[in-house]
Order: sequence, then structure tokens, then C-alpha cells
Amino acid sequence: MNIILLGPQGSGKGTQAGLLVQKYGLNWFEGGKILRSIARSDNERAREIKVMMKRGELIPDEFMRLIAWDFINKNDQNKGYLFDGYPRGVSQYEALVDMLKRFGKGIDRVIYLNISEDESVRRLSGRVVCAKCGEIYNLNTEDKPREDMKCSKCGSTLERRDDDLPEAVKRRLELYHQRTGPILERAGKDGILLEVDGERPIETVFEDIVEQLK
Ligand code: AP5
Repeated sequence: MNIILLGPQGSGKGTQAGLLVQKYGLNWFEGGKILRSIARSDNERAREIKVMMKRGELIPDEFMRLIAWDFINKNDQNKGYLFDGYPRGVSQYEALVDMLKRFGKGIDRVIYLNISEDESVRRLSGRVVCAKCGEIYNLNTEDKPREDMKCSKCGSTLERRDDDLPEAVKRRLELYHQRTGPILERAGKDGILLEVDGERPIETVFEDIVEQLK
């Protein structure tokens, strides 16, 4: 099963992806996480990526295609794939369809986590992430870490993301509406769109997705 997870910023793509990967044993393509790790390198390209991400801009399509291609190639193709944060925009969607086709695969489902813009802003203003294992928490909800700014899973320090500042969040949401809406239309026409109300507790959203995937 090959799945794309879409939704506005803070809709819970990373949160739900973690649960789905655990349940179905999928290869998890985390576009944003891969980019953040590239941005930590010490070279010109890494610095450019870091600046673009901090401003909430999108990374060029061709660069994203190469990262996705590398990921598809390197992972066990007998397992399915879960694409979280990729594609954004119809051109990336088409590039992904083309890459999967070369392995005799296709996209089975596009899961759309629907939340309002107010909820996006509310969630991102409270999000903290473990610098080591990537576990996600929220200081504004019940999903807080047990100890202040310490990961409940591995004990490492929690941090806020550079691009969760209000100006960057505004730009990310703008780009999301411009670029991602057309993918939803396309997936709807292809009969593979699965829409989920993302403004419910994490477990309820997950159970709904699992039910709809049956
Ligand atoms: P990326 O890291 O992919 O960020 P994003 O798409 O903006 O999404 P987020 O990570 O902000 O939100 P999420 O939906 O994963 O929510 P989460 O589960 O964390 O991309 C970052 C940047 O990389 C982009 O801006 C761009 O620059 C670049 N990039 C990435 N992919 C690209 C591409 N394909 N092309 C070009 N550029 C690209 O949850 C958020 C918070 O809400 C958490 O605190 C969580 O605990 C909480 N929460 C989750 N679910 C619930 C719930 N049901 N109820 C209450 N709280 C919840």
C-alpha cells in the first residue's frame, strides 16, 4: 500500500504518519525531516535550504524529486511507502506517479487531514519536537511531555522549530492553499482521495483512517 498524507501545517501529518508506519510497516518518507537534516550540513546548498525553510518557502521541485527518488531506491520496495510532506503541488504529484510507475507501483490512497487555519496556528504555536528522536509534543494540549522540555521517550531536550514562528507559518499556509488544493482535486478525480476530519483527538483520527483504509 502506497499512501500520500496531505493537510495544512499542523494538521497532524507527522503524528499520524508515525502511527500508520507502526501499524502497516511502511517506508516513511518525511520530506521536512530529510530537508532539516540536509540543512544542518556545512555547505552552500545546505545554507540555501536552511534560509528557504526558515522563511516558510518551498524547496525547488527538482531537488525534492531527487530526494524522493533516492529514498524510493534505497528502501525495501516490497514494503509500501508513506509520503508525508511530499508531494506539494501537481508537478510534484506527477513526478511521484512517474517514479513509482518505474517500479510497477502506483498511489493507492491520498489521505487528506482537514483542519481549519485557526487550528493550524494554535497547534504550531505550542509544538515542540525532540531534537534526537523526533517525537512530537504540544504544550497547548494534553499531548505535553511528562517533564518540562524533556522528551518522554528518550529524555533529550525538546525544541521549537525555526519555521513555527508566526511569519513563517503564515507563508507556509499561503503556499499550502495555492499548491496543495489542486492535488486534492486530482486525487478526487482519480477516486483515491480519503478525507478525514483532523480536528479530533489523535487516536480518533487514527482509528478513522484505519477504518477507511479497510
Ligand atoms: P514539513 O516538516 O513537512 O512541515 P509541514 O508540512 O509544514 O507540516 P508540519 O510538520 O508543520 O505539520 P504536521 O501536519 O506534520 O503536524 P504535526 O504532526 O507535527 O515541511 C517543512 C518545510 O520543508 C516546508 O515549509 C518547506 O520549506 C520544506 N518542504 C517539505 N516538503 C517539501 C516539498 N515537498 N516541496 C518543497 N518544500 C518542502 O502536528 C502539529 C502539532 O499538533 C503537534 O504539536 C502535535 O502534537 C499536534 N497535534 C497533531 N494531531 C493533533 C490532534 N489530532 N489534536 C490536537 N493536536 C494535534
